[in-house]
Amino acid sequence: MSRSAHPAGPRHGDVLPEGHFTAPPADLNALDPRVWAQSVERGGEGAVAVGGLDVRALAEEFGTPAYVMDEGDFRARCRAWRDAFGPDADVFYAGKAFLSRAVVRWLHEEGLNLDVCSGGELATALAAGMPPERIALHGNNKSTEEIARAIEAGVGRIVLDSFQEIARVAHVARGLGRRQPVQIRVTVGVEAHTHEFIATAHEDQKFGLALAGGQAAEAVRRVLGLESLELTGIHSHIGSQIFDMAGFEVSARRVVGLLTEVRDEHGVELPEIDLGGGLGIAYTPEDDPREPHEIAKALGDIVTRECEAAGLAVPRLSVEPGRAIVGPTAFTLYEVGTLKELEGLRTYVSVDGGMSDNIRTALYDAEYTVALVSRSSEAEPMLSRVVGKHCESGDIVVRDAFLPADLAPGDLLAVPATGAYCRSMASNYNHALRPPVVAVRDGQAREIVRRETEEDLLRLDVG
Ligand code: LLP
Repeated sequence: MSRSAHPAGPRHGDVLPEGHFTAPPADLNALDPRVWAQSVERGGEGAVAVGGLDVRALAEEFGTPAYVMDEGDFRARCRAWRDAFGPDADVFYAGKAFLSRAVVRWLHEEGLNLDVCSGGELATALAAGMPPERIALHGNNKSTEEIARAIEAGVGRIVLDSFQEIARVAHVARGLGRRQPVQIRVTVGVEAHTHEFIATAHEDQKFGLALAGGQAAEAVRRVLGLESLELTGIHSHIGSQIFDMAGFEVSARRVVGLLTEVRDEHGVELPEIDLGGGLGIAYTPEDDPREPHEIAKALGDIVTRECEAAGLAVPRLSVEPGRAIVGPTAFTLYEVGTLKELEGLRTYVSVDGGMSDNIRTALYDAEYTVALVSRSSEAEPMLSRVVGKHCESGDIVVRDAFLPADLAPGDLLAVPATGAYCRSMASNYNHALRPPVVAVRDGQAREIVRRETEEDLLRLDVG
């Protein structure tokens, strides 16, 4: 899903099979800081360390495959977002990217808010002590039970996604004797430049109420007419893994346009705008993501400009980055099991995980890089495909990569930038046991999500 072009082919002039090729990197041992977590470095002996800990020791202690997360990097990214947006805006981390109790505590300590999109995420947030007023509940089909639990807990915001939901949330809030703060999610009609499955602001899809044709304006009318709902603002999320700020700017402009209409029709100035998440990260060194301060400035400027032009007070802005905070902070550590060399084609390198711990390659054609991390190597680059152990040929982790030709069973590989949407989308396909998430900080490592066991699998199997 990287938007980068891949112009150059391998150096040796081979006729190569179809694929997304980059030239072999000049140095196979180099670890590009654009795709690796902050504290990752190759030590003197050639093995890679993270948070001061050697990956061989991590593999020994926690086994493979494992997601290894740099806690310091996660916290630094939270601070970068919070500082970039400043005291007049709120940063809601999107829990769907990856959520656990430890993550909730880190967010709390670093001053971020949390966006949850299910009862399970809400339960995790509350279990870890996130103050409910700092939680926003999302989803296009929240159950009555989820809505009731959120209102009872006192969540600070419910984002309404449909006409039915307006009535449903109002009804539940009334029953509980509450007045619930809500935002309305609108689709602004922007074609975000990303994979079709994760673009969400064009009109022909399931989320939100369209600005075009007046659905959003009608939703505002209905919400303003309901005693048990307090309309605080308008929400727009245009998609995910987006690099181009233009889509966000159009979105901001159209949302301010709706605020202006609301003021003109109802004499009410809504105090909040949420522009969602979706900022892209580097999966390969060709990807060039924007920094939080650039994003904050671009969004802040456009909202301020548009509001001034419309004579509106500038509303409080919020954003919901998920991937941009957690994505780059983790890598997946695998052990090589088998190698199959196809003369003149490529070598299939099978690792001990696969599509059950990273479905993104199969689902979105996502691109990743990979490195040998248990040692360095001076061997020639070998065109490789890193595959898993599942029973289908689409079980690809890294479609095209160069690894050293002396790669052997027992070597450890790491795939960087797997912090977002990998553990959270992991499955038990083939009864795979989902890997642990190991957090590393200042020379200490601990599981924040433990490895699944066969007992865990069998506990659900009650037949
Ligand atoms: N806010 C809302 C309302 C969202 O729906 C999402 C993501 C986010 C924020 C966070 O977006 P982020 O900053 O992480 O891009 N599984 C896909 C991504 C799906 C995103 C769904 N919504 C993937 O692996 O690329």
